[in-house]
Amino acid sequence: MVTSILVGMQWGDEGKGKIIDLIAEKYDYIIRFNGGNNAGHTIKVGDKKFGLHLIPSGIFYPEKNKIIGNGVVIDPEVLLKEIKEIEQAGYSLKNLFISDRAHIILPWHKELDGVSVAASIGTTKRGIGPSYSDKCSRNTAIRIVDLFDENKLKEQLEIISKLKEKTIGIYEKSSQFNTKEIFNNLIDFRKKIESKIKNTSYLINEAINSGKNVLLEGAQGSLLDIDHGTFPYVTSSNVISGAACTGAGIPPTKINRIIGITKAYTTRVGTGPFPTELNNKEGELLREKGNEFGTTTGRPRRCGWLDLVVLKYTCMLNGATELVITKIDVLDGFEEIKVCTHYEIDGKQIDRFISSGLEKVTPVYKTFKGWGNLSKEDWEKIKESKKLPKEMNDYLKFIEKETKTKISMLSFGPEREETIIF
Ligand code: GDP
Ligand code: IMO
Ligand code: MG
Repeated sequence: MVTSILVGMQWGDEGKGKIIDLIAEKYDYIIRFNGGNNAGHTIKVGDKKFGLHLIPSGIFYPEKNKIIGNGVVIDPEVLLKEIKEIEQAGYSLKNLFISDRAHIILPWHKELDGVSVAASIGTTKRGIGPSYSDKCSRNTAIRIVDLFDENKLKEQLEIISKLKEKTIGIYEKSSQFNTKEIFNNLIDFRKKIESKIKNTSYLINEAINSGKNVLLEGAQGSLLDIDHGTFPYVTSSNVISGAACTGAGIPPTKINRIIGITKAYTTRVGTGPFPTELNNKEGELLREKGNEFGTTTGRPRRCGWLDLVVLKYTCMLNGATELVITKIDVLDGFEEIKVCTHYEIDGKQIDRFISSGLEKVTPVYKTFKGWGNLSKEDWEKIKESKKLPKEMNDYLKFIEKETKTKISMLSFGPEREETIIF
């Protein structure tokens, strides 16, 4: 019996979707615990490909239970569209359950995202920040469970929409919300998902207590965590493994495996400091070879070398019991591969992640020799023998030594089969 958490160790898009799809076979429940449709988790099996935003990445296993936990913020339109697309592709979602405590993204959240401060962060403009702000401020938020008291909902929508119109006015924009239409859409949404709405913390705890295997699927990456990331250039939820317990309603004592996912290099979408960013041909090559364009917004991802200051920090924050390295194939053909071991700031070398001033650091690199170009057949042979080229082995052993964390899987392509399990 195992309760696992899978989290991103960088700034998101580490390949969480692919790895969840791969390991989902061993789990009975797959649960999203944070974020909303700012996430984009790509899974590819043969010629089938999905970019999932809200539904956990276990869709290719219809018999598995999939849960959207209380820590998630839900855009009703996006959820209905995603359910429809998956069902139309022939995958049953009869085992999808949605927490009655999850918060709802409303039209004003999307309008408020991207104005003022949020604009400089380069958010996904999906209403995530404004929705979590309302959750914390309490009296302007609506949860899934609130959709059942129709009279109260109507009243609430009237009050909140007036407030939001005023708030939007502060930013010299104007909006008039049609509360009747919003109400009707929300009731229609509730009716469509009614059989899936549950008090999911009971469901998950009962599953764990009856010996089921449970996988908690993180969204975003640890450096986008609202407390521990590169604030304010972060997302509005907690992202690290600790958040899995609050976002699903289970106690920390139940967790026994924490899988940290990292790319073999680094990417970031949106603004904010990124010490190892490469604004040169090598960065462009990583973007091109890694097809580094956002799953959610299509924006080009910023690319750079692997940063071990980051990785050591996020291994610590998450308590990663193992590391999965993805996209190692993207480094094929590079003559030299660099990895940042320290930062230099004010003439001093540091190996700790800092809470501000990250834009002022200069990365200090250790250089590794590349392993040349590998063909599909080469990779197949490597997978079968589990014998890596010496240069690749040196690179990965160094990561293990520095992070003091074992690499359990190595991913060399987007497909399920393109993975070596050690
Ligand atoms: P997530 O948000 O962490 O689930 O990651 P995304 O799905 O947003 O981005 C990762 C991208 O890399 C997706 O397009 C995957 O199909 C792709 N991918 C995952 N693993 C590998 C790999 O090992 N090699 C290559 N070339 N692509 C990969
Ligand atoms: P997955 O789950 C990469 C980034 C946005 C922006 C910042 C704040 O696919 O790894 P938000 O809309 O959340 O308020 O935007 O966070 N961001 C992500 N970057 N992958 C993600 O999710 C992200 N979710 C949010 O680009 O810089
Ligand atoms: Mg993504």
